[in-house]
Amino acid sequence: MKCGMKILVVLLVLGGLGYAFYKHSGFFLYDHSPMQYMPNMHHTRVLIPQRGYDFFADGAGARVPPKGSLAREQNPYPYTKETLAEKVSRNVNPLPATKAVVLKGQHVYNNVCIVCHGSLGVGDGPIVPPFSKPPSLQSEKIRGFADSQIFHIITVGQNVMGPYAQIVPENDRWAVIHYIRAMQRAYQPTTEDLKAFDQLTTKKNEGTTAP
Ligand code: HEC
Repeated sequence: MKCGMKILVVLLVLGGLGYAFYKHSGFFLYDHSPMQYMPNMHHTRVLIPQRGYDFFADGAGARVPPKGSLAREQNPYPYTKETLAEKVSRNVNPLPATKAVVLKGQHVYNNVCIVCHGSLGVGDGPIVPPFSKPPSLQSEKIRGFADSQIFHIITVGQNVMGPYAQIVPENDRWAVIHYIRAMQRAYQPTTEDLKAFDQLTTKKNEGTTAP
């Protein structure tokens, strides 16, 4: 290779490395006059939360919603924690007890309630103790409660059990009640339940037994 050729190759390699450094190192990125590609995105006309705004009498940019306004899909709940569940109106569950709804309820129960109330609802969840033992969901009291009375306890809480309205959306609360009902029926089945269960299992086993 001729000497001139060698110099050319070295220059090309150095040039390439230099260009790569300029492009990718970020070394030349921050100069004293940053370019704003879309200044309207930096200097938006939208009010910035926590920043003042002279237009309003109180000088605050963030506004308090007008009294009585509701967020979308937020249903006001008329009772408070002080209202006893027994005093709540005995409304019916707005959700039908379909398989999908009961399975949704099971999902909620297993994720939220089971740690205290246990897999059968008798109050033997894995964190009891140290958490105080809840009364059984299989009791005559809860069996006799209307769904809306159970809904009330989940929504606002009861004594040491906190409210679950923030974690469990309204429909999931109704769904978990259907699951509690299913648990109650599994725990203390009626004669009809047992008959239906027998029919179901014989149907399932048909063809599996020898003739
Ligand atoms: C951190 C533990 C804990 C979790 C989680 C929990 N509970 Fe409770 N629950 C309790 C305790 C403790 C009580 C008893 C409160 C009292 O002293 O009145 C209770 C009471 C209840 C009662 C009333 C029982 C009665 O006889 O008065 C119902 C119904 C109930 N819980 C349903 C639920 C449902 C449904 C969930 C899930 C969405 C849930 N709980 C989640 C601990 C819990």
